[in-house]
Amino acid sequence: MPDAMDELLEAARQASRAAYCPYSKFHVGAAIRAGGRVFTGANVENASYGLTVCAERTASFAAILAGAGRFEAIAVACVDAPEGSSPNLLMPCGACRQVLVEFADPDTPVIVDRVGRMTLADLLPLAFRLN
Ligand code: THU
Repeated sequence: MPDAMDELLEAARQASRAAYCPYSKFHVGAAIRAGGRVFTGANVENASYGLTVCAERTASFAAILAGAGRFEAIAVACVDAPEGSSPNLLMPCGACRQVLVEFADPDTPVIVDRVGRMTLADLLPLAFRLN
């Protein structure tokens, strides 16, 4: 029977289908458990490339705007990365790590598809915080 983390990862994989990524053609999905619910997101690109928003951030903002509260677990899936890719191609970018730090605790689990389970503090040690 799949555990809650497997289900969150599967939600991230499914969410990647909604990505708007005509430029990179790199679909990314993210799923966040918060307030007992699952919120998903995908990357949304723009012709002005720098305006692109990553999957982790669209999922984060969906959860926050729904009033879900603190994040309990996070999953990310880069479904278009070729088999045998370096883990670097599968990991959340630095900007998204900082955004996640705003809404989750250092020990919050982060599941990265095809890499494994880690904590948010593993991804961003000594994070910048104002509280
Ligand atoms: N991307 C994400 O959605 N999350 C990340 O953490 C890294 C990169 C997206 C942004 C862009 O649409 C595509 O992947 C290629 O960089």
